[in-house]
This record gives sequence, C-alpha cells and structure tokens, in this order.
Amino acid sequence: MSKEFKRYLVTSALPYANGPVHIGHLAGVYIPSDIYTRYLRLRGRDVVSVCGSDEHGVPITIKARKEGVTPQEIVDRYHRIIKDSFERLGMSFDIYSRTSSPTHAVTASDFFRKLYDEGKFIEKSSMQYYDEEAGTFLADRYIVGTCPKCGNDRAYGDQCEKCGSTLSPEELVDPHSAVSGSVPVLRETKHWYLPLDQYETFLREWILDGHKEWKTNVYGQCKSWLDGGLQPRAVSRDLDWGIPVPVEGAEGKVLYVWFDAPIGYISATKDFTPDWEKYWKSEDTKMVHFIGKDNIVFHCIVFPSMLKAHGDYILPENVPSNEFLNLEGDKISTSRNWAVWLHEYLDEFPGKEDVLRYVLCANAPETKDNDFTWKDFQARNNNELVAVLGNFVNRALVLTQKYFGGIVPACGGLNDYDRETIAEVAAVKGSLEKNIENYHFREALKEAMNIARIGNKYLADTEPWKVVKSDPERVKTILYVALQITANTAVAIEPFMPFSARKILAMLAVDKFDWERLGATDLIPAGHRIGEPA
Ligand code: 2FM
Ligand code: ZN
Repeated sequence: MSKEFKRYLVTSALPYANGPVHIGHLAGVYIPSDIYTRYLRLRGRDVVSVCGSDEHGVPITIKARKEGVTPQEIVDRYHRIIKDSFERLGMSFDIYSRTSSPTHAVTASDFFRKLYDEGKFIEKSSMQYYDEEAGTFLADRYIVGTCPKCGNDRAYGDQCEKCGSTLSPEELVDPHSAVSGSVPVLRETKHWYLPLDQYETFLREWILDGHKEWKTNVYGQCKSWLDGGLQPRAVSRDLDWGIPVPVEGAEGKVLYVWFDAPIGYISATKDFTPDWEKYWKSEDTKMVHFIGKDNIVFHCIVFPSMLKAHGDYILPENVPSNEFLNLEGDKISTSRNWAVWLHEYLDEFPGKEDVLRYVLCANAPETKDNDFTWKDFQARNNNELVAVLGNFVNRALVLTQKYFGGIVPACGGLNDYDRETIAEVAAVKGSLEKNIENYHFREALKEAMNIARIGNKYLADTEPWKVVKSDPERVKTILYVALQITANTAVAIEPFMPFSARKILAMLAVDKFDWERLGATDLIPAGHRIGEPA
C-alpha cells in the first residue's frame, strides 16, 4: 500500500539566470512538472508548485565579466526573460522566485548558521588555485584545463562537459585561469565542508532500501555514488557574488551555489504562503523534485544530507529526472548557441504554445536521450494535433451547428457500438492517472489523446453526414455521444495542453469540468447551446 498524503510540494529545478531557457530544459524538467501539478490541482489536491531563478554561482559571474556588466545586471536580465517566457508557455508555478531575494538570503544564511552552530560542518584549510594577476581564488568554472579522463582541453574545475566526469580543480592537467588566462599558483584558504561520508548509512537506507521505486536512472546514479564512497564537500567559496558565509572570519567567502540553490525551494515557498511550514515540516506532505539528470547528485545526495543535518524538514518522496534532449542529432549547447530558445519560439510561433508542450512531452527523454527535430515537430503537429485532435473536435462541433443549430441533441437508444465506444473512453481515466502518478508522462499523453482518437474513429465509423438523410433521429445520438467525447477530451488534455483545453471549453460554452467525472457521458446536457467552432 502506498502512503496517502494530505498535500503536495512540487519543486522544479531553479534555472541558472545566465541565459534563457531552451527546449532541453523544458523537456527534462518543466513540462513534466507542470503536467504533474496541473493534474493534482484538477483532482482538487492541496498542492504548491515552486520555482525561481538560480542567481548565484560562477557561470553568472563569468558571463558578467565577459560582458563587462555586474552580475546583478545579468541575473535581472535573464530572470525577467525566463519568468516571462515560462508564463507565456502556461507554466503554472504558484511562485517563480529568485535566489537574490531578501527572503532567500535570510533562509539560506540561517540554514548554514544552524548547521554551523550544531557542529555539523568540518572546517578545513587547503591549498587552492589562485590567480595572482586577477587577485582572486579560482573556484569551479574559473579554472579550466585538460580532463584527466578524456583529454578534453576545455574541462572545468568542477566538471568535464565532454565525458560528464565530476572533477576537482587539482585533477585538471595544465590548469589555467578562465579570468586572466594565467597559470595559477596554490594558496591556502579555509572552507566549511559537509561531511557527506557521515550520511552514507542514512542515504543507503533511505534511497537504496526505501526508494526502489525511483526511476532507474536516478536510483542507478545514487547507487553508484554511494558505492563509490562519499567525501566531505565544501559548501563555501572564495567569491564576491553570493550569500556571505554568516560566521566570523569568513570575509570574502560566500555559500557555494549548490548549497544555497536548493534552499531556494524553501524560500520560494515562504514567499508564496505564510503557511509554508505546513509544506516543509509535515510528514503528510509529498515533496517531489523535478530535475535534469545532471542535478541528480545534488538533489538525492547533497540536499537530503543538508535537510537531514538540519532536522526540521521533510525529504523528497521522489526525484523524477529525465535524460537529455538533443537538437537535430547534436547536443544542445548554450555556448555554441545550438538550441531552440523558449522566448524565441514563443515570438515566432504565437498561439502555438501547446504544440511545443505536446511535442516535448510526446518525445520526452524519459528513459534515454532523445532527439528533437523540426521534421518530427511538423509531423506531430500535422498528423496528431491537427489530424486527430483538431479534426475530431471540429467535426463534432460543426456538425452540431449544422444539424441542430448548436443545441446539444437528446440521446436516443444506444447501440452496441456506442456502448463499446463509451466504455473505451471510460477506461482511459485509470491508466491516465496511473501513468501521471508514476511520472510516465509520454504514456499519459498518449492515453489522453486516445480519447480524441476514439472520437475520431467513432465519427468516421458512424458517418452522421450520410445517416442524416435516412435516419435523422440516429444522428442525434451520434452527435450527443461525440460531444460527450469532446468534453472528455478537454478534461484529459488539460494538464498537457491547457490552452487547447480552454479553447475547447469555450467552444462548448462550458466553464469547466470535474476531473473525477472523466469518462462520464453526461458532461454536457441535451438542450445546452454550444459556442462557435474555431
Ligand atoms: O542545473 C541548473 O540549472 C541549476 N541551476 C539547478 C539548481 S536546482 C536547485 F537546487 F535549485
Ligand atoms: Zn572528460
């Protein structure tokens, strides 16, 4: 028996405010999280969905330096672009916050301070790379060199993007500064470390024994991290952009971006509701983190260890993470400008928000990396959205206008075929729900579209345009059934394509339908006047 929860807290990875959002982010994180959240709301669940911009960290200061502007200018620019484009795509976060907010500074600072006061950190001095020309320590991406594992000569101090290895700066061959290009020297510096090794037993029990239901890619990555043995992780950096480390003797040091960013979920919830503690501190809350696969270790190992160390907060129930989406056979890359940017798509395809939502869900990289191609985009638009969904809804509505002046006709006697069709529609509800609840959104979308498919076939098989000459009474029943299927379609597609669902409702001249009645054949009563088909 799975546990019954009283409420849900859905988090979506906070995008870095150093660039706009692209289709890879959407397919990996945001489309799934929005489908899940919309579904929960439709079912009347108590749900809060939080997101916001991740505004600290080295990628932002590097971008600012390159452009000769302040980091604040960079994050202000991209926060606005990202927030605006999310809204236009119909992302239904309850709050889209940012980690440069005052609430966040206090929340992250207090979090650190509590762990510090309780002796949960190790304080350690070590030799780290320092750029004498620029007068700065070289954290994370400020140091570049050759990857010891694959030979890529553009590897960063924290990661090689070519082979995906996690690195530390000392591992790089021929290290040099990304700031000045000079060869760095080693200098002593003090930092605070979270001793992840002390959380191994807890993590093993919690994940490996307790969450075998997590997606294979997520569970597998956790297992390999845990089997490899965990090391203490530094949670501070020598940088001038970030949340100051709130202890004496920490001048010039800020919280590591991966320490403060996930705390951003807490700050965002605080900014959304004074009742935030209900969501963060009660075992009755089901917290779900939607993330990309490069975030797994931080959300499954590091953040849970932080939460455990803190002690006041719940842990996530699940951390659904997708693989990567490629674009036309090539890895999406911000630096090479190989991406479809959300804000540009929205400008170039006005009114086609749902087409993108649909394609990115139908083709989501749920179990393996997948490819986005414009050819596939076009085919799915034409063969699925237009030929199945659009065609069905349009025919049902146009025929009702034509034969009955837009008044829903009364249902006469049902024949076997009508009953079979109705039963098929009714069967969708269960599998649609099960798929969404298990984070199988591609399958779920197929199920939702199946309702339109069933309706399309029903009209093609019953041929009301022919029958009208010989048996006009029968046509009343056919269109009554077709309109009920249309109404069911609107309910089922809402989590995936909210704009289209709303359009169908408007055409049916109905405000809303109740999800729990999905599958019913009396959603629109006989005698109701529908609106104009568009
Ligand atoms: O990978 C990223 O884009 C990170 N900015 C995600 C942060 S998620 C959370 F921890 F805030
Ligand atoms: Zn490499």
